[in-house]
Amino acid sequence: MNGREHWGSRIGFILAAAGSAVGLGNVWKFPFITGMYGGAAFVLFYLISILFIGLPVMLIEFSIGRRTQLNPVGAFRTLAPKGPWFLVGVMGVTVGFIILSYYSVVAGWTLSYILKAVVGGFNGFSSPEVAGEAFAAYSSHPVWPILSHAVFMFLCVWFVSRGVKSGIERGNRILMPTLFLIILLLIIRGVTLEGSGEGLKFLFKPDFSKLTPNAMLVATGHAFFTLSLGMGAMLTYGSYLSKKEDLVRSALWIMVADTGVALLAGIAIFTAVFAMGFEPNAGPGLVFHVFPAIFAVMPGGVFFGILFFLLLSIAALTSGMSLLEVVTAYFIDQRGWSRHKASMVFGFLIFLLGVPSALSFGVLGKVHIFGMILFDFFDYLSFKYMLPLGGFLMVLFTIFRWKPQSLLEELRKGGPALKISTGLATLLLLISALFVGVTFVAGILGKA
Ligand code: TRP
Repeated sequence: MNGREHWGSRIGFILAAAGSAVGLGNVWKFPFITGMYGGAAFVLFYLISILFIGLPVMLIEFSIGRRTQLNPVGAFRTLAPKGPWFLVGVMGVTVGFIILSYYSVVAGWTLSYILKAVVGGFNGFSSPEVAGEAFAAYSSHPVWPILSHAVFMFLCVWFVSRGVKSGIERGNRILMPTLFLIILLLIIRGVTLEGSGEGLKFLFKPDFSKLTPNAMLVATGHAFFTLSLGMGAMLTYGSYLSKKEDLVRSALWIMVADTGVALLAGIAIFTAVFAMGFEPNAGPGLVFHVFPAIFAVMPGGVFFGILFFLLLSIAALTSGMSLLEVVTAYFIDQRGWSRHKASMVFGFLIFLLGVPSALSFGVLGKVHIFGMILFDFFDYLSFKYMLPLGGFLMVLFTIFRWKPQSLLEELRKGGPALKISTGLATLLLLISALFVGVTFVAGILGKA
């Protein structure tokens, strides 16, 4: 495709892709699902998923994107003009739409917490119980969560409508290292709290009896979620790449950064959870119960609190942009819309879809689908079912339609001459397909 925008630099691409991967999934979601699904055994299964399916799927997405220089739908259409494979892309664009709708609600919470810290300095957050009540009061409010959700969507649109290059690349370069630094400070605070050892045990000493098939599927789904895989976000980012990039090395960097931030956030939060005698299974509010309670009692807590929620918001923003970019790229490439129009129209529609999720902690709290409030329904539907399914289909596509040979060819451009035979590559891909397939079926049957 002529005239397609490309990343300004190699590091710019890596940071943007890492910015997509590192987000609320690492600092908000990973701790709360680890708390709900049993701790260390869950973490171990998540790490195995990252390695066996995260890496191959990321390489597949980058390769397909760079090869076709198109959005997910256009990419599959180009590589497989006949047949239904383009539906994988259609599903991806749809999932991006759904994920961003509730993701933005949580990002809105983090924005509001910056304001809370600035105005009230976490006064009245001194214990996790009190902080928990404050969070419940905030998230069930009929107006504030919607306003902050709107602000977050506005910011996503603002960046995406200006194109991929300048805003995203520059922002990440400064903000990602700072986020890392803050988490490090929080860890030091966490592990020096009395009774923090219990938290480390919870996170690192596996109890395999807790690893149900359902927990395994959640872990696998989260591996996709946290790496932004399974719906074409990395494919879209890959479509702005030139042939000079070493895809394997980039993918490894992104995975290390993402997993590192998740584990560090996990340490910071669980040491504090256990030291303060709080329950680890509080669900989506966990980070909002525990961190404000730490900030309320630590020296300089207001300062760190503001910084923490600010950086969390920014991490969310760099991820939110990548989700909106998938939908936007589809309407630009396939439907000929302008970038401005596509990002604004869909930013607004995604905002609308997010409103019921935002209200599901309050006035819509009684509305249940499959026994879940709307927020949980959208979350579980997308990350637990649709992302693993999308990833599974991408691997099958590569094995049976695109062919492992073509994947290797694309990976070798701009990278070292990968000494992997086609046979071995096929075997590895079959293993990942089997891994996701079995986890998926077991998880669904196990739940019933
Ligand atoms: N990976 C991001 C996080 O952990 C969320 C995200 C961004 C995402 N783009 C995605 C999740 C694409 C799934 C698919 O917060």
